[in-house]
Amino acid sequence: MPITIESEHDLNLDANSSIGSSPQELEGLRSKLINLYDHNANRYDNDRSLNNSLHYYFDQAHSAVDLLIGPTTKATLHLDMPVGTGRFLMYLREQDRNHRMIGIDISKGMLDVAARASRINKYDIEYSQGDAFNLPFADNTVDVLTSLRMFHLFPTCYWPGLLDEMHRVLKPGGILITELRNAARGTACQLLVPGFRKRRKQHPHVFVNPLSIKPLFRRWDDMQMQGVGLDALAKIHRIAPVLARGVDSLQRSTFVRYFSKTLIIKATKPV
Ligand SMILES: C[S@@+](CC[C@H](N)C(=O)[O-])C[C@H]1O[C@@H](n2cnc3c(N)ncnc32)[C@H](O)[C@@H]1O
Repeated sequence: MPITIESEHDLNLDANSSIGSSPQELEGLRSKLINLYDHNANRYDNDRSLNNSLHYYFDQAHSAVDLLIGPTTKATLHLDMPVGTGRFLMYLREQDRNHRMIGIDISKGMLDVAARASRINKYDIEYSQGDAFNLPFADNTVDVLTSLRMFHLFPTCYWPGLLDEMHRVLKPGGILITELRNAARGTACQLLVPGFRKRRKQHPHVFVNPLSIKPLFRRWDDMQMQGVGLDALAKIHRIAPVLARGVDSLQRSTFVRYFSKTLIIKATKPV
């Protein structure tokens, strides 16, 4: 009988998820995720553009990652995984980035939406189906690997394996930029924002304590962490854009990042 999953909530994942690290459990999770995203692919972008504050957060996150990628040339090989509906790579094409971009995702439904949108916009982006745990690339071949909004889908016992696979395909000196859900913000909001606890229960995800991130990256050099998606910033931006920009810049380098929705991590594979 096919599994029907309407939202990430139905996956019933949480930081305290009981899912372990056996191959069968991972296989079960993989099929659920494929089902979820195949099922939601056609409405995925629409659902995420209805809400102004979500829209603002995506713009901020994409522009922060664009800056972190730094200079690229036509020869740069950039893998975005999971590419989803291709939003981030198309954003980069809109910024006139002209390097080679390949988007990998496990969901054929999401890839079809991405390929269609790229065709309509005449963006030269390659898409291919693949699994984060077994990337379809040889060792030491990729210059830049971006992985946005994926780790929260997997209990933390899988994170070292995912990071090792990313490390394998990157060239020495290649960079990884990824995004993790911030548990500290979850806790701060529970204390400070009325109703937050209830909202969080409606959308369970795997959160991470920012202070526990460093050991995960012990095989990497130059790890940096910044925040993105501070609550209320979208509203402030509408009233006082200059103030919003100032607060946003505080998320980059000060303690303010601990109140941000997500943490963007940049790390380099040692030469
Ligand atoms: C929350 S979406 C994020 C997509 C995209 N990065 C974005 O920001 O819009 C998560 C994506 O992870 C993909 N995914 C889930 N498990 C995967 C796996 N094992 N390998 C590759 N992609 C996977 C899903 O198909 C889905 O497109």
